[in-house]
Amino acid sequence: MQIAASFEQAMLREYPQPISLVIVKAGGKYNPMPLGWLMTTSREPPMLALAAERTRYTLELIRQAREFVISFPPSTMGKEILYYGTNSGRFVDKFAETPVRTQPATRVDGVLLTDAVANFECRLVSELVTGDHVICVGEVVASHVNQDESVRRLYSIAQGESGGVIPG
Ligand SMILES: Cc1cc2nc3c(=O)[nH]c(=O)nc-3n(C[C@H](O)[C@H](O)[C@H](O)COP(=O)(O)O)c2cc1C
Repeated sequence: MQIAASFEQAMLREYPQPISLVIVKAGGKYNPMPLGWLMTTSREPPMLALAAERTRYTLELIRQAREFVISFPPSTMGKEILYYGTNSGRFVDKFAETPVRTQPATRVDGVLLTDAVANFECRLVSELVTGDHVICVGEVVASHVNQDESVRRLYSIAQGESGGVIPG
């Protein structure tokens, strides 16, 4: 039986949620931001869309750079992801403060997460304001996978930016 609930209450049932990371150029550095809201929107050409809150520093960076990397962090990266998701690149150099292994991207000015399950290099093709978030659609121009197929994704178990982060 179904009972009426608020949108917020009902959406709590969507967890666990896979976590992604968007990495964007910020001056001479690169800024990582965790994402729960990511979707595939096209196979040919391949496209991914993310939803960034309207005031996010990362949204400003995406609009400037018009390119970004989407990573699927590994299950071992909970501590780093919580740090990246509770601090802003406006005030701190997140990769300097909480380092992870990165390597240069091949088709965009960006870095890949070396230990990720997969990485996707994207060029911004459109954006759409939807309520308090902005959907940024990226065409995937290069894809990469971890050669170790046993590496698993990271999931979030609860709502909220400092909510629990668990291995998949
Ligand atoms: C697990 C997790 C998922 C998140 N998902 C999103 C998301 O989909 N969209 C968004 O705008 N912010 C999301 N956030 C919040 C941002 O990652 C957070 O506000 C971050 O500090 C912003 O970084 P920036 O200021 O460097 O852009 C999420 C945070 C966490 C921890």
